[in-house]
Amino acid sequence: MTTLLHITASARKGRSLSRQLSNAFIDAWMRVEPMSTIISRDVGANPPPIITEEWIAAAFTPDEDQTPAQRETLRLSDELIDEIDQADVIVIGTPMYNYGMPAALKSWFDKVIRVRKTFTFDLARGDFPLEPVMSGKKLVILSSHGEFGFGPGGVREKMNHLETHILTCAHYLGVEESHSISISYQEFGDARHEASVADAFAAVPALVDQLALARAAA
Ligand SMILES: Cc1cc2nc3c(=O)[nH]c(=O)nc-3n(C[C@H](O)[C@H](O)[C@H](O)COP(=O)(O)O)c2cc1C
Repeated sequence: MTTLLHITASARKGRSLSRQLSNAFIDAWMRVEPMSTIISRDVGANPPPIITEEWIAAAFTPDEDQTPAQRETLRLSDELIDEIDQADVIVIGTPMYNYGMPAALKSWFDKVIRVRKTFTFDLARGDFPLEPVMSGKKLVILSSHGEFGFGPGGVREKMNHLETHILTCAHYLGVEESHSISISYQEFGDARHEASVADAFAAVPALVDQLALARAAA
């Protein structure tokens, strides 16, 4: 059975489109595979604290040399990494804020991309010394934008640092396949937005079927 890690990053609660979209994904998944396990991590409601000098020092101290205080400093990071370790599919519901990811989601990535835990670093590998520890994970990004044209060939493609940044980071969490569905035009609130919402919600069950079928066949 599948374990999904559901990350929600909007600062908004009930009005959040990215939450509604990612909830729709989870609901559709549970209809197809009701025995699946869902791990929920709401970084929008409870942002992980930003990393500090103490946190970096603790993360770079070998496990056997860490003080009790350093182990406590890393406790949340350990917990968040354990959630990723358990997950077959990582589902991220996120807004675009200032053309990138919300600070709360960036803070989550800063806590989980951790030396020896999620990546190894070896200069013997030449110019690309980092390698992920985990593998075989799938990522689904369900996002909402106020403007539009952030997809391939779109008028704001070069301004999209949301999906691109998430994908770059997710590689170090063992993600090897990704899918994304987004809502646009939220700030325009016009017929284009309505159509974008309808298209995004219609795309969700098809993506769930595709991913669940692939898992069943594997
Ligand atoms: C702080 C902030 C920054 C935003 N920056 C952008 C942006 O750079 N580009 C954009 O298209 N929309 C931007 N928006 C609009 C949101 O992406 C849009 O409202 C989206 O629907 C929010 O996601 P949510 O509905 O899940 O809360 C911003 C909204 C906020 C609150």
